[in-house]
Amino acid sequence: MNISQNLRVVVISLLTSALLACSSTTPAPPAATGTVPRPSLAKAWQGQVLIGAAVDEKNIKTQGELIAEQFNSVVAENAMKPMATEPREGEFHFEAADAIVRFAQSHDMAIRGHTLLWHLHTPDWMWQGANGQPAGRDLVLARLKRHIETEVGHYKGQVYVWDVVNEIIDEKQPDCLRDDLWHRVVGPDYVDYAFRYAHAADPAARLYINEYSTEEPAKRRCLVRVVQGLLQRGVPVNGIGHQMHISVFYPTISAIDETLTTFARLGLENQITELDMSLYRWKDNRLYDTRENLLSLQARRYGEIMRMIHNHPDVTAVTWWGVSDASTWLNQDAPADHRDQPLLLDEHGQPKGAFWAVFAAARR
Ligand code: XIL
Repeated sequence: MNISQNLRVVVISLLTSALLACSSTTPAPPAATGTVPRPSLAKAWQGQVLIGAAVDEKNIKTQGELIAEQFNSVVAENAMKPMATEPREGEFHFEAADAIVRFAQSHDMAIRGHTLLWHLHTPDWMWQGANGQPAGRDLVLARLKRHIETEVGHYKGQVYVWDVVNEIIDEKQPDCLRDDLWHRVVGPDYVDYAFRYAHAADPAARLYINEYSTEEPAKRRCLVRVVQGLLQRGVPVNGIGHQMHISVFYPTISAIDETLTTFARLGLENQITELDMSLYRWKDNRLYDTRENLLSLQARRYGEIMRMIHNHPDVTAVTWWGVSDASTWLNQDAPADHRDQPLLLDEHGQPKGAFWAVFAAARR
């Protein structure tokens, strides 16, 4: 560790301790947790905002009761992505996603659809043409149309909101769109087509652009530009999904607030779609304070975010990216000593400080 890194660690720990010292709002769990029944976050927030979790085919079986108790909305963590639903051209597999949909329906939960178009988790056949040649624009668009029509059609009337496109913004590109195969092979209007295909397949579904780091000014500006273009061209876009894979250290609550306000002013809905709050910094395996302090900071910030949501009738759902700290994508492919705890329930499915903070923030 060099001097500047050392300094950063010291500054950050001081900052964390100072923040914790002035935090009078972190709610404590009820004194005798053993005798107090665990409240339901979904019930506490009922009528205010949907409380969601990303789930998979396994945990709806092993943790089904807990999921149904705490959440009233689900999204498939991976099961509705193109790679999962159409692994080979024209061969659709909805078994895993159907199980999640059945689970949700049997518990009266709302269902988000994620996602119809992404630069990742897209099977290679999408880009392959005849005789080993790369596929051209018309072929890729025809494939995209069939994919979207089939998947959205399959879940018509069941999935109420779709992340039509995922992570398409790149603020470093002149047109603000990611330089990926969609852009290279089809051109920038692939976005318009994706929305139009989805709308045709289920006119009642809400259609979203889903994106990460939307609270960063440059990213936000680019997203505004792209969305304004869509709206001007009459493309049926209803809302913005803000992933919010955030950290205990950033972003500020006011940056999130400003982003939500920006899109609400454009007449759009907002949803927080993939919320988790890492104890670490992005792609950095060092813990900058004691776990205990970081978890208290996490609780406090979760409370602040949820209280800020009260000023945002434009926010219709908040979805956490996972059920409990026992399985979070942030621990996938990480070194053994990297143990992130970004969610509301701990490794044993028990409420953390973060859970109580989100509970306390609900209006009653
Ligand atoms: C992640 C899943 O959580 C992982 O299990 C998978 O290996 C990769 O994808 N942004 C998104 C989500 O939009 O689809 C990603 O989900 C996390 C980042």
